[in-house]
Amino acid sequence: MATIDEQPERTLQSRLRFTREMMAGPIYRKYEKAMRKFWDPGEFDYEADARDFQELTPEQQRGIVMITVRFLGGEQEVTDETLPMIYAAHALGKFDWTMFLSSFMMEEARHSQFFAMWHERVVGAVDVDELSEYWIEREKTVDPTGRYQTGEPVYEGLPYFGHQLIDACHAGDLAAVEEGFVRFSTLYNIWVEGVLTMPSYEIVIDTCDIWGKLGTLRHGFKQIVADEGRHITFGTAACRQLIEKRPELEQVVHDAINLYRGNAIGMLEYQRFVPELDLQKYQLQKVRHYKNRCRELNITPDQTLIDDILDPDLDFVIGIEAG
Ligand SMILES: [Fe+2]
Ligand SMILES: [Fe+2]
Repeated sequence: MATIDEQPERTLQSRLRFTREMMAGPIYRKYEKAMRKFWDPGEFDYEADARDFQELTPEQQRGIVMITVRFLGGEQEVTDETLPMIYAAHALGKFDWTMFLSSFMMEEARHSQFFAMWHERVVGAVDVDELSEYWIEREKTVDPTGRYQTGEPVYEGLPYFGHQLIDACHAGDLAAVEEGFVRFSTLYNIWVEGVLTMPSYEIVIDTCDIWGKLGTLRHGFKQIVADEGRHITFGTAACRQLIEKRPELEQVVHDAINLYRGNAIGMLEYQRFVPELDLQKYQLQKVRHYKNRCRELNITPDQTLIDDILDPDLDFVIGIEAG
């Protein structure tokens, strides 16, 4: 490897990264918006939620914590897996992406903080041995029709594709960085944040409304959804740029989604715990979000995926071992 003295001289363009065009662009403006929309979980009042929680039945307590514990883990994982996108933005010389992703990573950390504080102060459980009884392993889910399996896109897919993306950055192979970014961002921003998680936010907010309780949890979710909207539209805007440059990358999007297709087709386990919830509403939401993501990406939606999400014969429950 060349010594530090042998490094090429830096151009002025590589030092002064801001341009008028970048500052007027959609991704830099998302960064500006994130700066304006600051919120702090440390300022929330958790006392009323703690009282509400004590008034819930044991089934209701278990039902809600089965949802929130998945968010507590998921937010930590996505905080830790923001790095490959930042590294790719650096490798591709896209400083507006780096600026935005700095706010993105901080926001995922903030979501982690919110769930940690809520569990500690409301449930009285935050360490792993206190929460393990609420954890459902989705890897075990089997579709009784035998057509689908579900997996762990967050815990298994993101670290795997994140490593691949980092390797491409290290190798300096920019075509592989572009392709790896599309694969990673599809799984992260488009599929996990943009389709799979969206109904879960609604389920929590609807549950709080039905029970007339847990106002701080509801408020926290509302704040998080606003942050997630920027994360999703960053992913679709960034991938769209790359697909416009290299149309063959559209297939990378479909392939990444198909890896975890079963996760959208099954229902979520915790829907069972609130019998008042309208289950079909959340399947329709997944379809609406999927179509919106495809429109933002300017790609063609996979109609067979939409048909399967809405197929009443495919109604296995994620987290439940069939048979
Ligand atoms: Fe988040
Ligand atoms: Fe996010």
